[in-house]
Amino acid sequence: MEKWGRVGSNLPPTMNPIAVLDEVAAEAPKLIAAAETLETLENAESVLLGRSSRLGEVRKAMGSLPAEDRPRVGAKLQEVTRLINELLAERRQQLEEGEEARRLRQEAIDVTLPSVVFPRGSVHVIQQTIDEVVDIFVGLGYQVADGPEAELAWYNFDALNTPPTHPARLESDTMYLDWGAPEDEVLLRVHTSPVQARWMEAHDPPVFIVVPGRAYRNDTIDATHLPVFHQIEGLAVAEDITFSDLKGTLLHFAREFFGPETTVRLRPHFFPFTEPSAELDVSCFSCRGGDSSCRVCGGSGFIELLGCGMVDPNVYEAVGYDPNRVTGFAFGMGVERLAMVRHGIDSMKYFIENDVRFLEQF
Ligand code: PHE
Repeated sequence: MEKWGRVGSNLPPTMNPIAVLDEVAAEAPKLIAAAETLETLENAESVLLGRSSRLGEVRKAMGSLPAEDRPRVGAKLQEVTRLINELLAERRQQLEEGEEARRLRQEAIDVTLPSVVFPRGSVHVIQQTIDEVVDIFVGLGYQVADGPEAELAWYNFDALNTPPTHPARLESDTMYLDWGAPEDEVLLRVHTSPVQARWMEAHDPPVFIVVPGRAYRNDTIDATHLPVFHQIEGLAVAEDITFSDLKGTLLHFAREFFGPETTVRLRPHFFPFTEPSAELDVSCFSCRGGDSSCRVCGGSGFIELLGCGMVDPNVYEAVGYDPNRVTGFAFGMGVERLAMVRHGIDSMKYFIENDVRFLEQF
């Protein structure tokens, strides 16, 4: 074996290939076992078996070995290569299993943990009330209409038979966006009634509409006032609509909303755009008139609900309808008030405070 260092051999002149292979075989298990990941194992593989590994050197040197040594060195080379491949395969399997186990562990769901509860929102009680009222009128064949909240004074007042001298037109009552010449004054509408005029201007009779929407008044917030509040307007115009139709329609509405035993009463009132005008009261759904200290009706047995009346002929003139051909009625109700009466809520402030403890009750 002393001839190993022949010229042309890749091995250092003094190196014995059998000894090299033994050494590699002795070191390989440690190196392979030390690999903690598949990447480091791949690294170990190229260190042990790659072209420039010591094993690779022996492989390359085979051709230049004396013929009589080749079988023995070749067999040893094969044996060590097989050993290393076996060790690598075994370690690879271990690492793969470990990785899989780790992934399973990471992805495992602990079904014993309390579940994460995502709080679920709900429709605001004001919107619920609007939906309910609108549904009742849609059931009678009414269409839903809307109009701008920033409104021309013309639609908010003049077209509704409300002259420039009317007290509601004062800056102290109404919030103006553009205050000045009557033709192009712009304000935040004080009621949903301007949509009556807008709709009639754009549509021929018959008209059966409900108009839910926001209205604005220069009021300070207290238990019964909000500067921004909601109304639902109603308008029915056709030939031969009478005051009985007004009363029958509102009675139907009151019974649908408050219960089948509800009765209504009309008290004379004044609105510029209806003539005659009335306020509608409904019998108290809480005490049914039998409790002089009732919290809902204050003992009167009735609850004031809304304003209404027969559309004033001047309104028809303003929108281009013929007052001799059509008649009709209009009504307007405050949504906050409806919701308060319905649910026994004692202050309007709750509607705008966004306190979930309040909101989640509906
Ligand atoms: N617009 C009136 C108000 O805000 C209510 C109303 C509407 C009255 C329609 C009569 C007819 O008070």
